[in-house]
Amino acid sequence: MAPLIKVSPSLLAADFAHLADSIAAVEEAGADELHFDVMDGSFVPNITVGIPVLEAIRPLTKLPIDVHMMVVEPARYAREFADAGGDIFTMHVEACDDLEASLGDARVAGMSAAVSLKPDTPASVIQSALPLIERVLVMTVEPGFGGQSFMPEMLPKIEELKDMARLASHELEIAVDGGIKADTAGGVIDAGATTLISGTGVFNHPDGMKIGIEAIRAAGS
Ligand code: DX5
Ligand code: ZN
Repeated sequence: MAPLIKVSPSLLAADFAHLADSIAAVEEAGADELHFDVMDGSFVPNITVGIPVLEAIRPLTKLPIDVHMMVVEPARYAREFADAGGDIFTMHVEACDDLEASLGDARVAGMSAAVSLKPDTPASVIQSALPLIERVLVMTVEPGFGGQSFMPEMLPKIEELKDMARLASHELEIAVDGGIKADTAGGVIDAGATTLISGTGVFNHPDGMKIGIEAIRAAGS
């Protein structure tokens, strides 16, 4: 049976001057969750949004919000982002001094704990913490900016993570982020990803967000 594919539009590509309208439109268009990119200008060269913006958008939608923390030592802010309405707390393994403690902090704060891997980071880094990880986010571009080109060389890493979880009989959701559009979605779905994050592929789709989301979801069938 084909796995259920979730599409998570990245708000980084939304119209920040009309964020409420963009959220309503993307929810109406069939988004399964929302992806909220937090960048600190240190872990990545860019700076985006944080706690006050999450607080402002939380009442606007019932969709789960995945907070992608591109921030040094993200667990320092787990409580604040949970209070602001984050549901999934995605932390970069490269940014955490103690991954297991960071996962614990996210969970104690009441969120699901996810781990993200930059393109150069191998799947093996999460092996020992696997039982604590509900979801892994494979970056298919270098984190920091929207609108970059998908890196097909990440496909074997997705397969490796799928095999690692199967061997450990561990339920692991595999998400991908970066350059995901209708033409790249099929490959990541075949490799084992079930949550597809897409910024420009949804918000800038020439035929509208609904078609953008449906095209990504349909790439798996
Ligand atoms: C990049 C962010 C992504 C970004 C993806 O560092 O993590 O979520 O918005 O944008 P697209 O889908 O345009 O590559
Ligand atoms: Zn992201």
